[in-house]
Parts: sequence; C-alpha cells; structure tokens
Amino acid sequence: MKREQQQVSEDVKPTAPVYGVGDSTLRAAGGETGVRALVDAFYDYMDTLPEAAGIRAMHDADLSESRDKLTTFLIGWMGGPSNYAEKYGSINIPGAHRHLAIGLAEKEAWLLCMQKALDDQDYEEVFKRYVMVQLSFPAEMCRNR
Ligand code: HEM
Repeated sequence: MKREQQQVSEDVKPTAPVYGVGDSTLRAAGGETGVRALVDAFYDYMDTLPEAAGIRAMHDADLSESRDKLTTFLIGWMGGPSNYAEKYGSINIPGAHRHLAIGLAEKEAWLLCMQKALDDQDYEEVFKRYVMVQLSFPAEMCRNR
C-alpha cells in the first residue's frame, strides 16, 4: 500500500505545475512584460465591457496610472520584485478600496475583466484557473457591502 502511494506521488509530480513558489507565478505569466500585457487587456475590457461600466466609472478617465499601479503590484504579488511601495507607497488592498462602493456585482465585474484578460493570453488553462482562484480572495476582501 505504502509503495503504491509513493508510486502515485512520483507519477503526479512531474506533470503538475507548481505556482506560488519563488517567482514561478511570474514566470508562468510571461515575466514583467507578460504581466503588463495582462493588465493592459484587463483595463481594455474594463473600458469596453458593459458589465464593467460601473467600476470603470470609479476610475479616472485616464487609466495609465491604474495600469501601471496594478502591473507593479501584481509583479510583486507573483513573486517578482516588490517595487510597489517604493514607487507608490505601502498598500493594503482592502484598505485601498474602502472609499469605493464595492459589492458582489462590482467584485464580479472586476473578476470578469480579469478572466477575459487571462483568456487572451497564451497561458495554460490550469494557470488561468490558479490566478482566478488566488485573486478571488483579495477581490472578496475589497467588498464593503
Ligand atoms: C473587487 C473589485 C475591485 C474594484 C471594483 C476595484 C476598483 C479600483 C479602483 C476604482 C481603483 C482606483 C482607486 C482610486 O483612484 O482612488 C483601484 C485601485 C487599485 N486596485 Fe482595485 N479594485 C478591485 C479589486 C482589486 C484587486 C483584487 C486588486 C489586487 C489584487 C486590486 C488592486 C488595486 C491597486 C494596486 C490599486 C491602486 C491603489 C491606489 O492607488 O491606492 N484591486 N481599484
């Protein structure tokens, strides 16, 4: 029995991708250039999807700072260099959203933009799912109604 279990774990290891260790997530996302492309697609969806009109209206007309802030934040969050605090000051995600009215619909709209942006990238399906699962937690914590 013990041998069988060992055999299973040895069989599974080489094929199951590991994210969240060191900068493995950032590498799977295509490095810093890949994250920038992902965030650009994310804000392009926010700018155009009817479901996202409400959250788009919470942002400045010019999205360039939002694009750079989310990119810089996600690069650190994915295990890359943490330049966010140095560039923009320290951040706590729920706290940074406290002044905004975020309920279930707003959270879902944000995650929809992210899902569509991920689908546009040349990523493994399992990596897209990993990112969505990981982001759903901070997204839920941004809800204040
Ligand atoms: C749950 C739905 C979310 C909505 C509706 C939302 C909306 C917004 C808005 C409107 C801003 C600009 C705030 C301002 O100019 O005052 C912002 C900033 C930001 N958001 Fe979100 N956000 C959400 C979730 C998230 C998540 C899950 C993350 C990261 C994991 C994130 C990361 C950021 C960052 C890094 C900033 C810049 C913070 C700052 O300038 O202080 N957001 N968000």
